[in-house]
Amino acid sequence: MATKKKTKKTQIQLVKGMKDILPDEQLYWQAIKEKVFKAARDYGFSRIDTPAVEFTNLFKRTVGEDTDIVSKEMYSFVTPGGDKLSLRPENTAGVVRAYIEHGMLNLPQPVKLFYVGPQFRHDKPQAGRYRQFWQFGFEAIGDDDPVIDAQVIAISYNILKELGLETEVQINSVGDKESRSAYMKILKQYYQDKKKDLCVDCKKRLTKNPLRLLDCKVAKCRELALEAPQMVDHLSDDAKDHFMAVLEYLDEMEVKYNLDPTIVRGLDYYTRTAWEIVELGNEGKLQALGGGGRYDDLAELLGGRPTPAVGFAMGMERIILKMQENKIEVPKIKDYDVFVAQLGIEARKKAMKLFEELREDDFRVTESMSKKGLKDQMDIANKRGAKYTLIMGQKEISDGTVLIRDMESGVQEIIDYKKVKNELRKRLEKKNQDA
Ligand code: HAM
Repeated sequence: MATKKKTKKTQIQLVKGMKDILPDEQLYWQAIKEKVFKAARDYGFSRIDTPAVEFTNLFKRTVGEDTDIVSKEMYSFVTPGGDKLSLRPENTAGVVRAYIEHGMLNLPQPVKLFYVGPQFRHDKPQAGRYRQFWQFGFEAIGDDDPVIDAQVIAISYNILKELGLETEVQINSVGDKESRSAYMKILKQYYQDKKKDLCVDCKKRLTKNPLRLLDCKVAKCRELALEAPQMVDHLSDDAKDHFMAVLEYLDEMEVKYNLDPTIVRGLDYYTRTAWEIVELGNEGKLQALGGGGRYDDLAELLGGRPTPAVGFAMGMERIILKMQENKIEVPKIKDYDVFVAQLGIEARKKAMKLFEELREDDFRVTESMSKKGLKDQMDIANKRGAKYTLIMGQKEISDGTVLIRDMESGVQEIIDYKKVKNELRKRLEKKNQDA
């Protein structure tokens, strides 16, 4: 009989552009999410989760067919049933779809929603740029008052400030429909005799999407963009008053901002206020930590009623990268009050039972039952921040007792097994009062 030759399997690796988030880094994620949840509570935003998969048309109609995101970067596929779907490259369109679909128009306006979730763009991977990346975002739908724009901007700015990052908002107005079509003509005229100096992409943009000429990063195009006529000088009276009011509120809230006429954003749905948020001192050089703006026409593009709205999203990997670069420490999770330690097989069985009882009674309890030595277990108890360790050995089992060790002072006492919970509660309460 022929023997089967064993071949070594090739190792399957992480897909290019994706990222594993390992336990050590989770502390950063936790810290960011805590600030996001706190801001949501403070400013009255409710959580929404929409699916990672949507109809491709959702993004074509809103983000725009000619944008890089839709034309080059979407993970699109056709299902066996023939549906044309895409992994979401961003979350705003999905949130507005849900707002319309679930009749949120009938709720008191604005409806304030926030999300935390992965997005997908098949872009060229580099530091701070992934193909699956996480965003948190805040959207206020159903109100066009400039105070909402300013408040939403302040939320993004304050979350970063509370995380220890000094940032600046690069802000512009991309005008309303009326002012924008007039401005596009002026912009096209300006670029007409400079066409030969533009990069290949910008030559295409000139006919398809002239506003995007302003945020091209190619040196020559950037030079021309800085000299170009500015949208803010061609705003309708309404759009101008709106923008001025946003800036006044920002002044009042002491949000650092900088007027930047080249901020036009890479998505087509914006109207009026548009902004990006960057680390202070890194303007122009750095990828944005977040961006947002008003999107008053988006609901209509999806078949809804006219619904003014404003929001932003931030890239969580980029925030973490900046926090690490700036050596910002995040609090270690010290979630435990009690460690249950055991010595010997019989004691281990009893200790497992004690651990389950404490857990069911909501003690913040932890263990490492596979470890045999007391020193190893004490080290783990210390690392996890336990205030007390309960030690059970052969002697304690025979006597019906437990040894309780105060991890700070090192003092150990024998207590009756039956009284363990009461004793622990009393001692923990006292420790918390003294702290
Ligand atoms: P966005 O500017 O395309 O806007 O993305 C927002 C943020 O997501 C960026 O500033 C960046 O931090 C992060 N980001 C984008 N692409 C990547 C990537 N490939 N890798 C890592 N991070 C990335 C939007 O998505 C809009 N939906 C924002 C919005 C909400 N506007 C109104 N409401």
